Amino acid sequence: MSDHPRIPLAGVIGSPIAHSRSPVLFRHWLDQYEITGYYVPIDVDAEDLETVLRTLPKAGFVGVNVTIPHKIRALEIADVISDRAALIGAANTLIFRPDGKIYADNTDGYGFIANLKQNAPGWDATIGPAAVLGAGGAARAIVASLLESGAPEIRISNRTRARADALRAEFGARLVVYDWVQAGNMLEDATTVVNTTSLGMVGKQEFRVPLDALKPGATCCDIVYTPLKTKFLIEAEEAGCVIVDGLGMLLHQAVPGFERWFGQRPEVTEGLREAVLNA
Ligand code: ATR
Repeated sequence: MSDHPRIPLAGVIGSPIAHSRSPVLFRHWLDQYEITGYYVPIDVDAEDLETVLRTLPKAGFVGVNVTIPHKIRALEIADVISDRAALIGAANTLIFRPDGKIYADNTDGYGFIANLKQNAPGWDATIGPAAVLGAGGAARAIVASLLESGAPEIRISNRTRARADALRAEFGARLVVYDWVQAGNMLEDATTVVNTTSLGMVGKQEFRVPLDALKPGATCCDIVYTPLKTKFLIEAEEAGCVIVDGLGMLLHQAVPGFERWFGQRPEVTEGLREAVLNA
């Protein structure tokens, strides 16, 4: 390895990757903090993932974010795994350590909680049950972070019941499974409500879970951010709830990687939101 200082490089690995907003987000921070560095989209097929991950450090990369479809495989390839990534079963942030080892972390749960703290001041997981719609990868990270934050009970409902039951088996007694047709019932007295499904996203099916049982004052959060204000959030706001959109989670989950790779803890500001939205 060469001994002169190298310009730090990082990026996001997925396939396809052209739609990713992460390069815009990182460029904004690099410019804001006047850091010389680059963050690039990297499109890699599954069969090449390990070779690419082992080679990137040799080209000056200090780490990468990982997105669909490589989050699970990336965890298998990594040499060292954070407790959080192990619990979630997927990695979204890889750090290439100077000793040559690949360290895998998952910052989705951190991003979810940081977004709530920033945009729903006073939010507290411990004050009541949380209701989570969906049981995919995002739901796993969110359920883990809500449990870690002290939610007394997590109610979960998913179209494919078996996936919700699998989460229950893994995460234990504080997780209660509701039938998808009964999903609306689990909202009763829930103080945190999260949509982790793709329902309501542009081009996907409309959000159709009845919200009559929503309690005014509950904090309602969508992970969908196209559109920014989803039907779920519009209806929740009409019901007197505090609403938090999904863009903030995307921005906050990037904070630990940026800090690690470029040596500066970045702020999630309105300017950043606008830059990413307008990209
Ligand atoms: P991610 O990793 O982003 O969470 P995923 O693992 O594909 O993505 O999960 C998507 C979630 O949206 C799942 O909970 C999925 O339900 P299924 O497990 O039944 O597939 C949910 N979802 C997607 N489309 C849906 C629809 N039309 N109706 C209800 N749920 C839907």
